[in-house]
Amino acid sequence: MGGLNLNQVGFLLVTGASRGIGQTMAVECAKVMKPGSLILLLARSAAGLESTKGEILRANDRVTIVTASVDLSEPSKEALEGIVTKALANSSKESFQFALMIHNVGTLGDVGKWAVDMDNQAIWREHFAMNVFSVAILNAVFMATFPETKKFIVNVTSKAAIEPFPSMSLYCSSRAAREMYFRCLAAENPTICVLNYSPGPVDTDMAADIRTNSIDPELKTTMTGLFTSGNLVTRQQTTKKFIQVLQEGAFASGAHTFMFLTKLAWNSRTTLPLLITAVFLAMDFRMQVELDLHMENQDFQNDGSVDDLEDDESGSSSDYYYDSDSSITNEEEEPDHQEIREIHRIQLGIQ
Ligand SMILES: NC(=O)c1ccc[n+]([C@@H]2O[C@H](COP(=O)([O-])OP(=O)(O)OC[C@H]3O[C@@H](n4cnc5c(N)ncnc54)[C@H](OP(=O)(O)O)[C@@H]3O)[C@@H](O)[C@H]2O)c1
Repeated sequence: MGGLNLNQVGFLLVTGASRGIGQTMAVECAKVMKPGSLILLLARSAAGLESTKGEILRANDRVTIVTASVDLSEPSKEALEGIVTKALANSSKESFQFALMIHNVGTLGDVGKWAVDMDNQAIWREHFAMNVFSVAILNAVFMATFPETKKFIVNVTSKAAIEPFPSMSLYCSSRAAREMYFRCLAAENPTICVLNYSPGPVDTDMAADIRTNSIDPELKTTMTGLFTSGNLVTRQQTTKKFIQVLQEGAFASGAHTFMFLTKLAWNSRTTLPLLITAVFLAMDFRMQVELDLHMENQDFQNDGSVDDLEDDESGSSSDYYYDSDSSITNEEEEPDHQEIREIHRIQLGIQ
């Protein structure tokens, strides 16, 4: 599956584009799109959408931007079709070289209850309507709108889709369902590219909601620690990585693509491998030196010349065989034993 070159004439639809990750993704993708491109931004806050639109236009005023203030918690298929059709009214779909849909919208749900206390059906329905049902319906509308255009579909997913977090049963369950929907979509449609992108713990309103309202003290402490130590991922960092992944296309369609856990990991992405390589090189060098010393020592013993004996007596090589755990002096030790002990020292890297 090839990647997406954003530097073309395209159609971009982003949900939850008024703030948070969706806003930054919309801006960064739209910045590089070519004149003639159309960008459709959805969320409830008209002011937030206007601010995203302004940011895009400051960077790239040759694209057309349409905003629609809509509550995506339970929109009908007809309402969504109406929004997309209206946005496309002055464009020719054939002119688009790609169509990119970013399903970013998402809500955390109630994190003040344990799973066993989640007994209200209305709350389950409302949460799934927003985070799963409407996402699937909008996706169907998007697919039907662009039957011929090369399609890229992004689901902004979460580690919570594959790992349980105490106090987040609603969120984890809906994330798992949503991700599986996109995996099925990818399995059924090998010609479209589906990216389940997990952005890491990002410094947004949602992260603040977890550290403020979670009933789980451990999760609260972890999220607060990431925040106070400045180790939450920034919106810019995760968006940069997202665009890189999307453009390179080096992922299996539908697979969970996981990003850097923390800003610390992101910052260490080049230094850590270098450090590990340096440690291995140093160990390798030290083992080589010890091996050389050992060989030289063997040569002295085998040769047995007066000069060599003098060297041995002066203690320069016996230092090398010193073993604090042994009651036997090196001079008393059998040569075979010395050799085995020396090999052990080399293997263990002991001086
Ligand atoms: N932040 C993280 O650490 C993190 C980690 C993993 C995954 N994610 C996922 O990333 C995505 C974005 O998260 P975020 O942290 O950027 O969240 P956020 O700051 O809370 O932003 C959520 C966006 O969704 C929109 N939205 C919420 N309810 C809506 C509704 N009923 N109808 C229409 N739009 C609605 C909001 O706009 P309006 O309020 O204007 O409607 C806003 O634009 C979510 O899917 C989230 O699950 C986040």
